[in-house]
Amino acid sequence: MRKFIFAANFKCNQTRAGFNSYADALNSWISDEEIIVFPPSCAFLNRNLRFLQGAQNFYPCQNGAFTGEIGLEQLNEFGINCVLIGHSERRQILGESEEFLRAKFEFAKGQNFKIVYCIGESLETRESGKTLEFLGAQLKNIDLNYENLIIAYEPIWAIGTGKSASKAEISEILEFISRKTSAPLLYGGSVNLGNIAEIYGINSCGGVLVGGASLDAQNFINLIKETK
Ligand code: 13P
Repeated sequence: MRKFIFAANFKCNQTRAGFNSYADALNSWISDEEIIVFPPSCAFLNRNLRFLQGAQNFYPCQNGAFTGEIGLEQLNEFGINCVLIGHSERRQILGESEEFLRAKFEFAKGQNFKIVYCIGESLETRESGKTLEFLGAQLKNIDLNYENLIIAYEPIWAIGTGKSASKAEISEILEFISRKTSAPLLYGGSVNLGNIAEIYGINSCGGVLVGGASLDAQNFINLIKETK
């Protein structure tokens, strides 16, 4: 069967109680699907999960004086060995620089963590015709040969807008990235029940990173079922 990763990014949504029920629903449905869920860190669960629990964010430290952050010590308590790095919301809203993202990447790589590294262009960059150049520069920041790397292409203009990139647009970018790395490539940006089958049909696409449509467990399960 084709390997296809379904990743759910809850962003600043869900509580621990809510995620616990979500995990029950996913645990009882899942068979051999590869699923990663990124809950908010205050909702991390310490229980048997049949999917991978990942961290949306961390500070590249064991522990220390980094108010409001979580480090390796906190991730380890929940057995977390998968992290999201470079999401456009952290780049834009939280001001994470390429230099800081590189520090996070190197730290997570040093732990041999699975890294889902996000890249994506703004509408302005797309309209200026400089998308490939821009994404190429974002990719220069990290070790593309890292064995536990997954790249997520998330065009900023498609995130939370209900307007996914087209099949042709996704194919063009994923093929461009696949010439630089053999890492699995995900697409993210308004993935939903209505477009998942088409996205699944893109050969170079190794999975999806889903925001809004992943928040309800049954909706996320239905989305996965659309690819079967
Ligand atoms: P939406 O699926 O809500 O557009 O979010 C995509 C995203 O940013 C996932 O990381």
